[in-house]
Amino acid sequence: MKVLVTGAGGTLGALVTAQLIAAGRQVRAHDRVPLGNCRAGEAIVGDLGDRDHVAELVEGVDAVVHAAANPSPLGDTEERIFANNVDSAYHVLDAAGRAKVGRIVYISSASALGLAWSKRGAAPVSVPVTEEHPYLGDDVYGLTKQIGEAVAATTSRRWDVATVALRFPFLGSGERLQRHLRPIREDPGVDRGGLWGWLDTRDAARAVLAALSVPLSGYHLVNVTAPDTSSAMPTRELLARYHPDTVVERQLGEFETLFSIDRSRELLGFTAKHGWRNA
Ligand SMILES: NC(=O)c1ccc[n+]([C@@H]2O[C@H](COP(=O)([O-])OP(=O)(O)OC[C@H]3O[C@@H](n4cnc5c(N)ncnc54)[C@H](O)[C@@H]3O)[C@@H](O)[C@H]2O)c1
Repeated sequence: MKVLVTGAGGTLGALVTAQLIAAGRQVRAHDRVPLGNCRAGEAIVGDLGDRDHVAELVEGVDAVVHAAANPSPLGDTEERIFANNVDSAYHVLDAAGRAKVGRIVYISSASALGLAWSKRGAAPVSVPVTEEHPYLGDDVYGLTKQIGEAVAATTSRRWDVATVALRFPFLGSGERLQRHLRPIREDPGVDRGGLWGWLDTRDAARAVLAALSVPLSGYHLVNVTAPDTSSAMPTRELLARYHPDTVVERQLGEFETLFSIDRSRELLGFTAKHGWRNA
């Protein structure tokens, strides 16, 4: 099986590429930055904004992991983030459908809910947050991921391609994870919008491999997070302090994640292996 990985020069794409190679898959790695240390059989540099380039890129692969994106609303203008993320998702997923690939994995984000970067301090309607939770966004990045999911669902129906969209929370390992956890330890309120969701990047890459290989058809949107929060404060207290108006649908474990992860367990057979509490 040959897999195209876009964004292969980035944090997640590089790990997905490495895990695929370790699992014996052939990989066509792609990014707009040079793929210096990449061990993929094919490494291609180009911009996914170029539709003709993308049409060539998907030729001859069996599956596509679309991880390339501006991964936050920061670092570029809103217009460019919108155009980059939306155009690249449409180009890659539509071209993959036309080329009759067997599986698409679209890397979405919990930001597609519209809470993580909300300037008006939006709160979830209810927890655990399922994949059916309403979109509440007012920021450009979450909007691009929401549209990316709509593109993935459309492509799946139009070209009859089995597609999984993975909603990841903050991803990090090692020092990047520690840099994320430190301010939350000081003030849990800093991650109010992110709902204290987190996942080790190595586990995220494992979830991508599962999404590529489990038998399924049609389109599936799946929350994938660690089973616990990124905070030492009990989940009930986080809710009472920072989201007092949110409806709590069921009793939650002491540090249980606020995201519903039943679907990732049932559909993908996925559970996170890496934790931070005893590290
Ligand atoms: N980092 C997180 O915490 C996080 C959380 C949830 C979801 N995500 C999603 O995961 C995916 C990967 O994020 P990451 O953290 O690895 O980001 P990253 O910035 O490390 O990697 C993204 C890569 O995509 C490439 N890219 C972007 N636009 C491109 C284009 N038009 N053509 C070619 N290459 C392009 C970049 O050069 C970069 O190497 C993104 O889709 C992001 O939205 C990330």
